[in-house]
Amino acid sequence: MAGIRDREFGLVLTDLVVFVSAQATVGPCNVPKPRAWSPVEQSKWTSWHGLGSMPSAEAMRLFVKILEEEDPGWYSRIPEFINPQPVVDIEMHKPKEEPDIVPLTNGTGTSSIPKTISENGSSVETQDKVVILEGLSTVSAHEEWTALSVSGQRPKPRYEHGATVLQDKMYIFGGNHNGRYLSDLQVLDLKSLTWSKIDAKLQAGTSDSAKTAQVSPCAGHSLISCGNKFFSVAGHTKDPSGSITVKEFDPHTCTWSIVKTYGKPPVSRGGQSVTLVGTTLVVFGGEDAKRCLLNDLHILDLETMTWDDVDAIGTPPAPRSDHVAACHADRYLLIFGGGSHATCFNDLHVLDLQTMEWSRPKQQGPIPSPRAGHAGATVGENWYIVGGGNNKSGVSETLVLNMSTLAWSVVSTVEGRVPLASEGMTLLYSNYSGEDYLISFGGYNGRYSNEVYALKLSVKLDLQSSTKDQPTSDSTSRVLEPEVEISQDGKIREIAMDNADSKNRNDEANEQLLAALKAEKDELEATLNREGLQTVQLKEEITEAEARNAELTKELQAVRGQLAAEQSRCFKLEVDVAELRQKLQSLDALEREVELLRRQKAASEQEQAALDAKQKKQAGSGGVWGWLVGTPPDDDDSESS
Ligand SMILES: *[C@@H]1O[C@H](CO)[C@@H](O)[C@H](O)[C@H]1NC(C)=O
Ligand SMILES: *[C@@H]1O[C@H](CO)[C@@H](O)[C@H](O)[C@H]1NC(C)=O
Ligand SMILES: *[C@@H]1O[C@H](CO)[C@@H](O)[C@H](O)[C@H]1NC(C)=O
Ligand SMILES: *[C@@H]1O[C@H](CO)[C@@H](O)[C@H](O)[C@H]1NC(C)=O
Ligand SMILES: *[C@@H]1O[C@H](CO)[C@@H](O)[C@H](O)[C@H]1NC(C)=O
Repeated sequence: MAGIRDREFGLVLTDLVVFVSAQATVGPCNVPKPRAWSPVEQSKWTSWHGLGSMPSAEAMRLFVKILEEEDPGWYSRIPEFINPQPVVDIEMHKPKEEPDIVPLTNGTGTSSIPKTISENGSSVETQDKVVILEGLSTVSAHEEWTALSVSGQRPKPRYEHGATVLQDKMYIFGGNHNGRYLSDLQVLDLKSLTWSKIDAKLQAGTSDSAKTAQVSPCAGHSLISCGNKFFSVAGHTKDPSGSITVKEFDPHTCTWSIVKTYGKPPVSRGGQSVTLVGTTLVVFGGEDAKRCLLNDLHILDLETMTWDDVDAIGTPPAPRSDHVAACHADRYLLIFGGGSHATCFNDLHVLDLQTMEWSRPKQQGPIPSPRAGHAGATVGENWYIVGGGNNKSGVSETLVLNMSTLAWSVVSTVEGRVPLASEGMTLLYSNYSGEDYLISFGGYNGRYSNEVYALKLSVKLDLQSSTKDQPTSDSTSRVLEPEVEISQDGKIREIAMDNADSKNRNDEANEQLLAALKAEKDELEATLNREGLQTVQLKEEITEAEARNAELTKELQAVRGQLAAEQSRCFKLEVDVAELRQKLQSLDALEREVELLRRQKAASEQEQAALDAKQKKQAGSGGVWGWLVGTPPDDDDSESS
């Protein structure tokens, strides 16, 4: 059959190879339609393509995708003798298992689906009694899924969207269509079963994209009604922010606003569960922007808009995304199923929100098979679960868990590839004119769906949640099969398919390319780092040199100062010396004078001595007196002797 298609569309394939290569490399969410590409982009993509050889099966898948987009009905026109190939969604790695082309209902399936669902899924009740009823009330069968006949412009088929019911209206927001994230907000009036698109504004000032005043396209987020408005929490976006974004939509003003939160917000993610418990939102698990699976627990208080990052005790569920969660008796958070990259789960975990303790209580009844991407809705103490996928196909049963007894039972089973047996659909509860309904929208099972199905619940439910039979009161925790065993049932998304090989080859090429790019980036970064380092070093050196320079200048000035001081001291000294010299000279003069005086003195002494000697001689005859008086000494000679 691939051969037939190859021949038929052979001419297109070579071009498609290029697109597929780009698609698989860059990721699908932001890849525009090939036609819109400029020649420059084309050649760019062509060179991307040169890096890996693309198997034609890969191109085929994209071709099918494009066909789906251009002409959703193409498939039904292919002759039945063609046995279709499985088709894989490039982004999600989920198989698009093309099933039997024959209409779903042949009367041979379960009796629970009479002729209520036709192949195009749009015809309602073809049975005898035609009751004229309004809106959802047209669903007459109990416990059976019925495709609703809707009017108005139907939203684009999608999965991983958000959905919620508010005042007899079902709102859907965003999701993934052909690998692209959506940002539209649509509403189905449950009274008239009419779709309409809401021209939602993004409140100015709160915008993360103020220029466009639009909310970012996203998928894998959660829509939660609270009061007369609803919140959109988390989700994958093209340019993920660091932490979870909480948006609020007010239907009266048709306005989105980004909610300012406090505390430490969780990292951004998609595929988490968000459960309204009282006036708080409990966020568990999911997959972050780096495809890392999470099992962290965060609580957002809607009154204070404050995040609380919870440290629960006990063993939490393994990291996972695309699980479901529900709250029982305002106290217990139940987590069921979901997937990791390698496997999907069927384990049931309970978190007691009072003690913040995880447990794995014993389950009753038929234990459901592993699944991921399923949807759940609580009605009183009943938890309804629909769809999801494992590695074979979409899950066809609608299950219900009595949350008091933890007993599982099957509500209904659908046959074939209906949107109800798919991944990423939403399931909501509505109490439309006093009756209890489950409503499902969208999903992906190889095709994207935009069908609305409803199931009327037969029993008038006691909506008072029982607090008598607590799940945790059953202390004997059942030890479930180890994950290795579970993984045998793994899920569709990652798994072996007919063309898994070619996919792997493609992946390899892409990985090589990515590795090469990463290496180059690393190298550039390293170079940048090195240069940055050098710059820093140089700057340091300059600073050092400048400092040294300044020091030297200071020293120089100091030395100059010293020198000047020395000079003046020198000068002073010279003056002193000169003075001293003068003094010395006068000293010399004095000395000479003194010498002269000494000599004069000595001369006068000699003279005196000579005089004395003369006088002594005279005194020997006349005595001194005679000499002094001058009288002749002779007269007195007799007396003095
Ligand atoms: C459809 O139903 C007829 C009769 O009920 C049966 O013979 C036929 O095999 C069925 N076809 C399929 C595909 O189940
Ligand atoms: C659905 O199919 C039925 C019969 O196959 C056809 O009469 C009807 O027009 C189809 N509706 C849509 C919306 O294609
Ligand atoms: C859950 O099981 C208990 C015990 O069998 C029963 O009393 C209760 O009605 C059940 N709840 C629902 C919603 O069926
Ligand atoms: C559903 O509607 C009926 C009748 O209007 C009402 O009695 C009942 O409480 C409602 N249930 C819920 C869960 O709102
Ligand atoms: C799921 O896939 C695994 C690995 O491809 C395979 O071994 C296993 O048999 C599959 N399980 C089912 C239920 O088909």
